[in-house]
Amino acid sequence: MNKLSEKPWSGRFAGSTEKLMEKFNASIGFDKRLYKMDIEGSRAQTRALARMGILTKQERERVLAGLNRVEREIDAGALPLTDDLEDIHMAVEKRLIELVGDAGAKIHTGRSRNDQVALDERLFLREAIADAIAQIERVMAVVLDVAESHLDVIMPGYTHVQQAQPIRFSHYAMALFWMLARDRTRFEDCWKRANAMPLGAGALAGSAYPLDREFLRAELGFDRIAENSIDAVSDRDYFLEYLSAAAILMGHLSRFCEDLIVWSSSEFGFVELADAFSTGSSMMPQKKNPDSLELVRGKTGRVYGNLMSLLTVMKAIPLTYAKDMQEDKEPVFDTADTVHISLSVFAGAWQSMKINGKRMADALDSAILATDLADYLARKGVPFRMCHRIVGKLVRTALARGQKLHALDMETLRAASEAFDTDVRAVLSPEASTEARNLDGGTGRNAVLRQIEAGRHLLTDGKACG
Ligand code: ARG
Repeated sequence: MNKLSEKPWSGRFAGSTEKLMEKFNASIGFDKRLYKMDIEGSRAQTRALARMGILTKQERERVLAGLNRVEREIDAGALPLTDDLEDIHMAVEKRLIELVGDAGAKIHTGRSRNDQVALDERLFLREAIADAIAQIERVMAVVLDVAESHLDVIMPGYTHVQQAQPIRFSHYAMALFWMLARDRTRFEDCWKRANAMPLGAGALAGSAYPLDREFLRAELGFDRIAENSIDAVSDRDYFLEYLSAAAILMGHLSRFCEDLIVWSSSEFGFVELADAFSTGSSMMPQKKNPDSLELVRGKTGRVYGNLMSLLTVMKAIPLTYAKDMQEDKEPVFDTADTVHISLSVFAGAWQSMKINGKRMADALDSAILATDLADYLARKGVPFRMCHRIVGKLVRTALARGQKLHALDMETLRAASEAFDTDVRAVLSPEASTEARNLDGGTGRNAVLRQIEAGRHLLTDGKACG
């Protein structure tokens, strides 16, 4: 065999491929990751062809045994996957033909690499989504435990990185829980739309053989059949949705990383990451750096990049397939790996970090109760807009005198508003402030307990896909 005749499509060609072009064109360097999905698809295709009489029963068995052997060889790293093979689809088929001869050469009947790759990708995606969901659920479980065991830790809540109102640390943790809960549903949603079986689409117009698509659907565990052959080979929105869900997820993680990184500085000292999730400096002996969280924050950038990369690749590609679309795989593989490791590290860091409730309580600025003071006046019948101004002036007075807001004497308070009475002292504590907020979704102790309970419920009953 000369070099040229080795390519399955070489019949139409008189000249051979330039080495440089071969390297440029090859996707096998990365799509080999799809070999199990590709072989799975070929098994279903083989059975479908046998049902139509295109393969005899004996041929079917030989091909299935051959596919098993190809899989074992790739498992063992025993099959060289070189650029001249072009992609994983042709590599598997070529080796199959070497092993079983003509029967193997029949399996591409009524199939194109265009529907084949769309199938392999969807099979891969189902695994990637299931993995992301499992990892998200692990983080959710860790966050619930941390929230439950730190219910009485009260800390400053921030807006604009300025102390705003006291909150329970558990309430903060549960904010992450609910964001993750929505991330989970985004992946589940993506699964629903991706779970359509493309085989039978052929190159673009539909296979000229009466392939039993319902049989193929059931064999490969899809919910439904892709409705339109042109759509089935043209779109990659299943990948785009996955990348979007991953980008939003990473964006969520990055914000919690940022908080904890700042909070683990000596200035804050609110939390301390475990040694197991920190690293040191090569020069400064005292350093213990929150690299785990910094890296999760940093990897958010590459996941955003992967989404932008595929959105850009897909833009304005004329229907149906064009080779541009071969560029779809690496951003998705990279995202799957990045999401997996980021969620695992994030879970580990949360599970093992120390929460320093005393530092959090000590950090509470007395002016953080200003809203409670205004609410006190409002409850006495003063219109809230006026309360706001009165308390604003009191904050200024306290600052000018170098006093804490709660230390202002009764005389000063009453000079600001007649409505102040001795019962004002009762509202001027962080505990009282949080306890005033026991409505659903608030930071009061019971309200947070109800959230945690609802969270446990969601985590145990919430159906993931599979
Ligand atoms: N390696 C190709 C890809 O990943 C497979 C599909 C090739 N189809 C084609 N018509 N050349 O997109």
